[in-house]
Amino acid sequence: MLDSKGLSLLCAVGARPNFMKIAPVISAVQGEPDPLRTFLVHTGQHYDHSMKETFFRQLGIPEPDIDLEVGSGSHAAQTGEIMLRFEPILDEVRPCGVIVVGDVNSTLACALVAAKKEVPVIHVEAGLRSFDRSMPEEINRVLTDQMSELLFTTEKSARRNLVREGVDEKRIHFVGNVMIDTLNRNLDNAVPPETTLARHGADPGRFVGSRDGFGVVTLHRPSNVDDPKVLRRLMDTLAEISRKVPLVFAVHPRTKERITKAGVALPENGSLFLTPPLGYLEMLGLMSRSRLVLTDSGGMQEETTALGVPCLTVRSNTERPVTVEEGTNTVVGSDPTSIRAAVGEILATGGKAGRIPELWDGKASERIKAVIVQWMRDGR
Ligand code: UD1
Repeated sequence: MLDSKGLSLLCAVGARPNFMKIAPVISAVQGEPDPLRTFLVHTGQHYDHSMKETFFRQLGIPEPDIDLEVGSGSHAAQTGEIMLRFEPILDEVRPCGVIVVGDVNSTLACALVAAKKEVPVIHVEAGLRSFDRSMPEEINRVLTDQMSELLFTTEKSARRNLVREGVDEKRIHFVGNVMIDTLNRNLDNAVPPETTLARHGADPGRFVGSRDGFGVVTLHRPSNVDDPKVLRRLMDTLAEISRKVPLVFAVHPRTKERITKAGVALPENGSLFLTPPLGYLEMLGLMSRSRLVLTDSGGMQEETTALGVPCLTVRSNTERPVTVEEGTNTVVGSDPTSIRAAVGEILATGGKAGRIPELWDGKASERIKAVIVQWMRDGR
């Protein structure tokens, strides 16, 4: 057994999409053989019950050892506040490495503090690139990767991106996708759509019993929801589509606020149904039984590919090209005409069937653990 006395890995998370990624990593790292100690920091970037506790409980993530409770703010304020609050924790815990996942502000903030203190940064989901620097996530990805000692990638495009940016190839490990580890483990426990819809006051029959099935929608990117004109146009498009295929729209808190501010009126026939943010198992249940998914989320592009459900990405690019090249994803942008046409095609033909990308086999976290253990044995 590896002597892990005094050694621990600090795992830092902050926002909803981090939770599905850290869950299998913690369980692999703590598991046999060679169990390692972990210390879990939650920055508090996401703090609503529906954006945090539900995920910890459903995914069996241990209670965070500390919650930095930073909450919302401008990018600078949020990132700076996380850094200030994270530094003393890092000094106290003195881990042998800091594991960060994904591309949110918490990822960058914790990586930056660790790198400056010469604590090795381990980045899970490295190398993804949209090549769109207007996305805050793209800046977070590029900078986090530059500071990382070990870089774990989900698809082959990521290695090329990293090498182009001068990252030493020896640090890059193609291990597959931890999101899919989580999906595979939880699929059997997914909440049936009927239960979720009834719980939120919808008539389930209207969705699950509809001739063409139902669609699932999420939108929260600033580019889609911050400008009232864009948001109104998208909501009108959804209302129109819902007349052909009923839609369940799980609304992120910021989107809810924007919808209210923009005074968007919803169609009265109930076929565009809005719910609060859903738990992981509720969303998984809905997606797995849906006819199509319309989203600007990163993770859902991957989950739909794993589930074989057609996905329309309401953005002009994706940092996850394998989901388009091999999976079920199509990047449609936010223009109503292209969205309507793409939905029409899915309803007419069934949409892309896709195949499961290489190493999306539910074992990514085990591979990550093996690399970390070897790295420790080699004296880091
Ligand atoms: C963050 C990530 C994004 C990810 C998304 C998933 C960054 C830069 N962005 O975006 O990549 O796809 O999480 O959800 O890190 N709010 C609440 N309750 C919460 C959290 C947020 O009401 O628990 C509201 C607040 O009004 C807040 C706004 O949502 O100002 C935005 O939250 P923030 O964490 O800044 O970014 P997200 O849009 O959630």
